[in-house]
Amino acid sequence: MNHPETIATLAASVSAPPHVRHARLLGWVREMAALAKPDAIVWCDGSDAENEDMIGRMLESGTLLRLDPAKRPNSFLARSDPSDVARVEDRTFICSQREEDAGPTNNWRAPAEMRATLAGLFDGAMRGRTMYVVPFSMGPIGSPIAHVGVELTDSPYVVASMRVMTRMGGAVYDVLGADGDFVPCVHSVGAPLAPGQRDVAWPCNATTKYIVHFPETREIWSYGSGYGGNALLGKKCFALRIASVMGRDQGWLAEHMLILGVTTPQGHKYHVAAAFPSACGKTNFAMLIPPRAFRGWQVTTIGEDIAWIKPGVDGRLHAINPEAGCFGVAPGTSHESNPNAMAMLHANVIFTNVALTDDGDVWWEGMTKEPPAHLIDWQGRDWTPADGKAGRKAAHANARFTVPMVQCPSVDPDWDNPAGVPIDAFVFGGRRSDTAPLIVEARSWEEGVYKAATMGSEMTAAAAGTIGEVRRDPFAMLPFCGYHVGDYFAHWLEMGRKVAKPPKIFAVNWFRKDAAGRFAWPGFGENMRVLQWIVGRCAGGARAVDTPLGPMPAYGDLNWEGLDFDAGRYAEVTAIRRDEWERELAAHDALFDKVGKRRPEALAGERERLGRGLRGV
Ligand code: OXD
Ligand code: MN
Repeated sequence: MNHPETIATLAASVSAPPHVRHARLLGWVREMAALAKPDAIVWCDGSDAENEDMIGRMLESGTLLRLDPAKRPNSFLARSDPSDVARVEDRTFICSQREEDAGPTNNWRAPAEMRATLAGLFDGAMRGRTMYVVPFSMGPIGSPIAHVGVELTDSPYVVASMRVMTRMGGAVYDVLGADGDFVPCVHSVGAPLAPGQRDVAWPCNATTKYIVHFPETREIWSYGSGYGGNALLGKKCFALRIASVMGRDQGWLAEHMLILGVTTPQGHKYHVAAAFPSACGKTNFAMLIPPRAFRGWQVTTIGEDIAWIKPGVDGRLHAINPEAGCFGVAPGTSHESNPNAMAMLHANVIFTNVALTDDGDVWWEGMTKEPPAHLIDWQGRDWTPADGKAGRKAAHANARFTVPMVQCPSVDPDWDNPAGVPIDAFVFGGRRSDTAPLIVEARSWEEGVYKAATMGSEMTAAAAGTIGEVRRDPFAMLPFCGYHVGDYFAHWLEMGRKVAKPPKIFAVNWFRKDAAGRFAWPGFGENMRVLQWIVGRCAGGARAVDTPLGPMPAYGDLNWEGLDFDAGRYAEVTAIRRDEWERELAAHDALFDKVGKRRPEALAGERERLGRGLRGV
């Protein structure tokens, strides 16, 4: 099969379908085929037939198991290799020409050195496999806010997932025409097959992983992992890391934000974009169902992970969701925490690393109060509740579902609108057991940028790291900003000056704990009470009291109908404590020391003002 002559012939004869007229694309595919040496090349069209073929291949190779078609029609379970379960931030690189342009929050390698490493790794990396050419649009096809990418991958799991997560298929070639711009994304699981060698269910490279971005040339190279953001290159690599650089250069924003619509009983509609670090409930907030007391209020979902935001001619910022699907964290998702997500998962889902029930369905921790009596865990082993009690999880903590956005019952009628939706408010929130209050408003755009820049959050399982440790996660973009974080702050400050009507900015914390270590705020649907206040502040009617951190609602300024939450408990979730804020300000200073000379002056001023205000606490 993979004899040199065959490879040379294959590379030279890369013949694209007739509607692919893009010389640069053809040249690049040819060059990558010559390097990676796949056995075959398939130009994907995104059709149902092609998807069925992909699923068929994966059922045969054991990558996918079909779930019970009566319970979960057209749904599948994948179990990854235990070494390949999350994004690998320590293996993620921003290879700008100059190290200082990647900044202190990114891993950097000189582009020439990294290109040499990648050339070695990709040489023959796809031997024994097929290389799929996957054209995709991030954002509605043809939208002025959208951009196109093409991913070359040797993973059918990636092809099937990209079809859900992006607008993937032949129509993208029409947008590209003969010379349209696209971001080239190369992906290999890094597990070539020798002639006759049997494949494994989840091929990956257990020892070598590289997730590489070249910001100046807008290229992505990913090697060794088949999982999530490491491999579905439209998501974190393109829509955040590369797009953040495009946004800096072209005057827009690529953000780790959900987008939701709030409609009041009077029929006024507001749009909120909210940034939270990974696995802090973005999907739950985006799909919030207002409590019964909020009759006539409606929350609708435009996006749940990423927002691309551009200034409109109306002087406002307009946002689209560049994705078409949801790659959500399964554990913790239940009919109580997120009924919309549960409804969304009724069919057409690829589950990864959840547990399998004896009747061919799925389960994960938190889905039901009582676990089933027997399961097959995410590694394919028998599992009983006794194993759970001994600390062995049935589903991996970062187990995921991949599902089309349109299946969400709360999907907004404008979710696919090429013009996007106008943003009224930005919300920033980390996971903090203490320090950060339930809700506070920024007094100015600059103060809002300061709050977002200094966000901290306790680590979760979405990335490797010490779970529970507070890390500074500016704008929830720490692992996703493709350039120097100080320049990113400056870009945000500049964007606020650019538009006549910048959104208001708020900071929230759903995760404060009481003295006994229990969550002090009920969260989930009850977050509507905070959302109503935010919308009220945008509209101009809602009252607030001044605090050293900014305006906050007094107890009586929130709607408590239908919730037993007294003023004492409210004081718990809104308290500003001197010792906590002394530690907090020291952490801000440490962050800015790390940012160094590129910290914008305006943020130094905000730090001064905040310190002064807190002295009175
Ligand atoms: C995600 C993440 O998968 O942030 O959305 O890790
Ligand atoms: Mn995310």
